[in-house]
Amino acid sequence: MYNIYEDLHQFSSYVPPIDLTFHQYLLLADEPVLFHTGSVQQTESLLPLLKEVLGSNILKYIFISHFESDECGGLSLILKHFPDAKPVCSEITARQLSGFGITNNIIIKKPGEKLISNDYELEFISYPSEMHLWEGLLVMENKRGIFFSSDLVFRFGNANGAVIEGDWQKEIENITPQQVPDPQQKEKLQNTLKKLSPKFVATGHGACLKL
Ligand SMILES: [Fe+2]
Ligand SMILES: [Fe+2]
Repeated sequence: MYNIYEDLHQFSSYVPPIDLTFHQYLLLADEPVLFHTGSVQQTESLLPLLKEVLGSNILKYIFISHFESDECGGLSLILKHFPDAKPVCSEITARQLSGFGITNNIIIKKPGEKLISNDYELEFISYPSEMHLWEGLLVMENKRGIFFSSDLVFRFGNANGAVIEGDWQKEIENITPQQVPDPQQKEKLQNTLKKLSPKFVATGHGACLKL
């Protein structure tokens, strides 16, 4: 558990057989937001740490980039502990969650829309995730300049608390066809991202980037 950037807290699990670290984040602002739940096993380790960092603050939102176990596998478990927290995701992700009977109580966001509190401004970006190119979301926190990259900025290794110097334009150029298989959608996403200038990239996997 690390206070990784300003009021952003990182929780991580490293899985040696696949040499991959899975991160979740809590933005401990006036209306706290959790970014990703981890798989249900990861959520079990996350919960006590999350409660410790939250203290008397109440978890308000759970951002889910796309429908996959490491991004939302533990959502039911989180909601058992935080029944008033609202998941925030794309329309397709909401449909999957509802179809699996996980929850109907969801805030759906479209690309370009925002979620604004006194303390942060989350701006959502279309993310054509690899499986079926189902539209997920990426998110930029405009006040702090934090970009939440989900599976897009991706490195292997044990990266608990790791932050490296990064080059934003290079990271965008390095997006692979494995990450976004449709060339037109990949180019569109790259063009959108090139216009952003984040100060920090909070990755889903691997070291975070300081820019
Ligand atoms: Fe994923
Ligand atoms: Fe992931």
